[in-house]
Amino acid sequence: MAKDTLTVKDNRTGKTYEISIEDGAIRSMDLRQIKTSEDDFGLLGYDPAFSNTASCRSAVTYIDGEKGILRYRGYPIEQLAEKSTYLETAYLIVKGELPNQEHLEAWMHNVTMHTMLHEKVKNFMAGFNYDAHPMGMLVSTVAAMSTFYPDAKNINDVESRRVQVRRLIGKIPTLAAYAYRYSLGLPYVPPDNDLSYTGNFLGMLFKMTELKYKPKPALERALDVLFILHADHEQNCSANAMRVVGSSQTDPYSATAAAAAALYGPLHGGANEAAIKMLNKIGSADKIPAFIKGVKAGEERLMGFGHRVYKNYDPRATIIKKIADEVFEETGKNPLIDIAVELERIALEDDYFVSRKLYPNVDFYSGIIYQAMGFPVTMFPVLFAIPRTSGWLAQWAENVFDEEQRIARPRQIYIGEDSRDYTAIKKRPVPQTLERKLLMGRL
Ligand code: SDX
Repeated sequence: MAKDTLTVKDNRTGKTYEISIEDGAIRSMDLRQIKTSEDDFGLLGYDPAFSNTASCRSAVTYIDGEKGILRYRGYPIEQLAEKSTYLETAYLIVKGELPNQEHLEAWMHNVTMHTMLHEKVKNFMAGFNYDAHPMGMLVSTVAAMSTFYPDAKNINDVESRRVQVRRLIGKIPTLAAYAYRYSLGLPYVPPDNDLSYTGNFLGMLFKMTELKYKPKPALERALDVLFILHADHEQNCSANAMRVVGSSQTDPYSATAAAAAALYGPLHGGANEAAIKMLNKIGSADKIPAFIKGVKAGEERLMGFGHRVYKNYDPRATIIKKIADEVFEETGKNPLIDIAVELERIALEDDYFVSRKLYPNVDFYSGIIYQAMGFPVTMFPVLFAIPRTSGWLAQWAENVFDEEQRIARPRQIYIGEDSRDYTAIKKRPVPQTLERKLLMGRL
């Protein structure tokens, strides 16, 4: 019977080592026994951007990149998108099981009771310029929330964690809506607890002088499904940020702010904003070949395409593309969809993309829908952050109670200067700073 071990021969010393294989992985710490001498630190694993490093054991989300499979707690995303709601999915992601009717109602009540913000949060909003990016406002105000709830530092207290989870899932849409209303110079709309989670969010965004905001059911449902699709995605960049920052035992608001900051980047949750800007820049289908030429020359990036894990079609993109038709029936067609569909068709016939297994990801079509629903482009990453908050919190909590986890502190391979002595300033040459070396192409 073959053993679940790796036999490694260190040719530097002729020694061999047996290293256990568990769940398709070896423990990097087992490499440290491989030394050339007693005072040798031992072998490290080198993995920039963690392309082949499992940082944790997680039961939250399963992805099969080759087969295009995505499941939250074992439930296929296609079934949840068709049959569930975002709040029910958030319960599943955070608590590990689908709720029964009684628990779902209690959960919805508990989250709804936490939709209001402390009045002082408005002072934070007022400190931003009128044209401040709402994602920058969200990151800042989520971090500021930690000052309103000092009890959140009790991260090992289950009840405290439960309260913070409800507060963050309940309040993040209100923060997002405040940022949006502030950017338009409109008065804030308080939460309407008679509405659904998504309906209330739409009301806080778009209610004007009417006494009672009534969300359009088709748009309310479409946004709820988009929230389901964006709720978690295993160890993506922002989930990793949540775990790493949370590993120092800081409070969940500060960790969520770090995760939102990671999501903000154009290679991650900011890609939906970048994809719309890309489609607008292309302008019309006849200009796609020239754009593709620029991508292949490395001058452009096809935003909304490619994925570290999916080497097949992102299953979320498939569902989002279907939602577009439903939304357009209500809002009228967004002309960018024709450019996007043609861009996808051309790209998927081009060996540059096929050979690199670059397919549309979650961000390729979502922005087109958001724009049709009336959201400004700057709000797109915020619309990603709202549902992802439940995923971040599930990943954070899993990290808190994982006994194998400690404070995250990677090692490095030092490539800098050897020891050198301090010199008097009069004896120093023109400093060959890193910026100079970069500018002179010597880095
Ligand atoms: C999200 O991780 C997650 O799960 C994230 C996410 C989630 O739900 O949390 O799924 C959400 O962030 C989706 C991704 C959104 N980002 C974008 O759409 C931005 C555009 N895509 C890329 O920049 C890129 O594809 C990444 C960042 C998504 C993945 O990058 P990788 O895995 O580091 O791949 P890479 O950059 O090393 O690319 C491999 C090759 C390179 O070419 P060569 O150097 O081999 O010649 O593919 C090329 C890249 O140049 N490439 C692209 C491309 N993506 C990769 N070329 C053109 N356009 C692209 N979009």
